[in-house]
Amino acid sequence: HKQLTIGLFGFGVVGEGLYKVLQQTPSLKASIKKVCIKDAHKKRNAPASLFTTDKDVLLNDPEINVIVEVINEADAAFEIVSTALTNGKSVVSASKKMIAEHLPAILKLQQTTGQSFLCEAAACASIPVIRNLEEYYDNDLLHSIKAIVNGSTNFILTKMFEDKLDFQQALILAQQLGFAESDPTLDVEGHDAVSKWAFLLTHAYGILIHPDAIVFNGIQNIDATDANAAKEKNLQIKLVAQAKKLKNGKVAAFVLPQFVSADDHLSFVKNEYNGVVIESGFADKQFFYGKGAGSFPTASAVLSDISSLRYDYKYEYKKLYHHTPHELSDDFYIRV
Ligand code: HSE
Repeated sequence: HKQLTIGLFGFGVVGEGLYKVLQQTPSLKASIKKVCIKDAHKKRNAPASLFTTDKDVLLNDPEINVIVEVINEADAAFEIVSTALTNGKSVVSASKKMIAEHLPAILKLQQTTGQSFLCEAAACASIPVIRNLEEYYDNDLLHSIKAIVNGSTNFILTKMFEDKLDFQQALILAQQLGFAESDPTLDVEGHDAVSKWAFLLTHAYGILIHPDAIVFNGIQNIDATDANAAKEKNLQIKLVAQAKKLKNGKVAAFVLPQFVSADDHLSFVKNEYNGVVIESGFADKQFFYGKGAGSFPTASAVLSDISSLRYDYKYEYKKLYHHTPHELSDDFYIRV
């Protein structure tokens, strides 16, 4: 197998998690040569010689053949990814917003450079959701997907409705545990979930769609009235992302808070866990469940991408097409 020499961008919750995970998996023979960070003065739990603030030190090092990018800023992340691919390096990324906004450009770069771009950690952390969607031979086989793709909001809803914490307390806990984005309104208002949904739709159906074109809402308006209504009917409130192939061949998709009944697989998904329910031809119904946020669960997905670069794994995607405004059919709203 190919020797993997990594240049890592970002040493936050995920970056540091990956550093530790790689130390515990020496058999992979993938080593981090340099880490590029923004703030040189922050105390880090790793040797100082590992760090630099100069991105070119990583991007221009011929020995580094894998760039792992786990930073916050979408535009900076895209610049790093484009330069890395252009410079002949494979890229592993966990930047949801960046991928959702720049996927068409990334796909072009992947094609022209022949390099791999992998992003399993960008959606549902420990659940290999992209790999699974890539496994379906034909878009037409996927009848529907329904998922919880944001750990923080699921954590907050669980803490509010089961442990009786108020919204702010639950949010602070989600931040302390490293689940929330640095700007937690991205989680709470549904932006993070809809970003993930946009590129999961690409892997599922070959749809290239900007997140702004998908109907979405977060959990910011959910209050005690909703909670009581849910409780009376033995339902739970969850932020659910859905997509469904319609009879006319189009795909309906959205991310909205919903009432979920006790016999729905998603009702088992609590706290920072994520879940994905897929209905498809031949396979019938499948349910994937695992931690969707946090340092090690996210690093585990980065680790799996890195390991698959040993054999130059690339996403195949499907027959791609650009999707103009979403289609929503009336029978697709879940009503109670
Ligand atoms: N803030 C994200 C979440 C992190 O809560 O799901 C994982 O993508």
